Amino acid sequence: MLTQKEVQQLDEQYIAHTYARYAMPLAQGSGSQCRDFNGKTYIDFGSGIGVNSLGFCDPAWAQAVAEQARTLSHCSNYFATEPCVLLAQEVCRRTGMSKVFFANSGAEANEGAIKAARKYASQKGKTGGKIVTLVNSFHGRTMTTLTATGQKEMHVDFDPFMPGFDYAQAGNLEDTLQKLDGAVAVMMEMIQGEGGVNMLEKEYVAAVAGYCHAHDILIIDDEVQTGAGRTGAFLCCEHYGLRPDIVTMAKGLGGGLPIGAVLLSEKVQGVFSPGSHGSTFGGNPIVCAGALAVLKQMDAAFMQAVADKGAMMKKALLGMPGVAAVSGCGLMIGISLAQGTAKEAAAKCLEKGLIVLTAKDKLRLLPPLNIAQEHIDAGLAILGQVLAELA
Ligand SMILES: Cc1ncc(COP(=O)(O)O)c(C=O)c1O
Repeated sequence: MLTQKEVQQLDEQYIAHTYARYAMPLAQGSGSQCRDFNGKTYIDFGSGIGVNSLGFCDPAWAQAVAEQARTLSHCSNYFATEPCVLLAQEVCRRTGMSKVFFANSGAEANEGAIKAARKYASQKGKTGGKIVTLVNSFHGRTMTTLTATGQKEMHVDFDPFMPGFDYAQAGNLEDTLQKLDGAVAVMMEMIQGEGGVNMLEKEYVAAVAGYCHAHDILIIDDEVQTGAGRTGAFLCCEHYGLRPDIVTMAKGLGGGLPIGAVLLSEKVQGVFSPGSHGSTFGGNPIVCAGALAVLKQMDAAFMQAVADKGAMMKKALLGMPGVAAVSGCGLMIGISLAQGTAKEAAAKCLEKGLIVLTAKDKLRLLPPLNIAQEHIDAGLAILGQVLAELA
């Protein structure tokens, strides 16, 4: 095994630094805790950015992955496999959607959704393929999903961009309806995750949906971060009573292995035909076996527990010094600070043994969905100390 220093040196020398990494590499993880190379333990309020929905190395997930790796590892999408079809069936059963296209990431799922929407429109004789997204949204880092991302600062240096995108002010119905004129689809996150854990208003979503239904404009719901139980419902759109035409999932669905999914409703289920889209690794049996093990644990009691833990954490946070506001739903929580920066607070938390995330100027918490009460309490105690120091 390498030493911490060796890992740091190799990281510095060979990795393209697209992330401002923390100095210490991680060595081992189990449930809601992990350890660095010096044996220091950290409580995890980040889940690897919303991926480890059952924590690090959940035993049932690890067992399913290992067993599938010994049975049938990969065979290409020219063959159906048991984990892939069972996962698609389970995702459809839980969401009421009709078909699934599996990919490897959130961006790739959104690429698939954009292609599906444009093909649907093209088959209906609609031209232009305009897709409206929201200002401050985040949909991925590929060229098309970066174009879809409504954050100008992320566009710097990467033009030219894909044509056919327009950006509406989230929550501004007049602006949104104006931009939707002539569009083939709208793509929205119910809670903007990277954008700062900002929840869309129910009335706004309902009004946009009403307009879209009336004009056959498809609703693409980006649930890459909010999906798979994160908000206390399998999909966040359930809280809104929204029935999207296309849903994208990724992150927590795989429980730690790369996955993306494009969920197609009955209306658009026939849009893809052989040759119109693809992905070599999409629906990989090992990944799907892991995802099935994740979903197996997500029953009604599990979802209720996510909602309850989230409500309890929010209440505790609101009583902490220097907390100006708390946003989000379930175990997706944003914290606006009255004093200090989120980056400063996150670094101090890490020093004291707690991993938290940031999103814009807020702290962002995405703990494992099955986090135990003792770890919530221990994490909140550290956070409380840090915020008191900053206040
Ligand atoms: C809402 C949303 N969409 C898309 C993405 C991109 O996912 P990935 O990094 O897996 O490509 C993210 C990632 O944070 C996201 O939060």
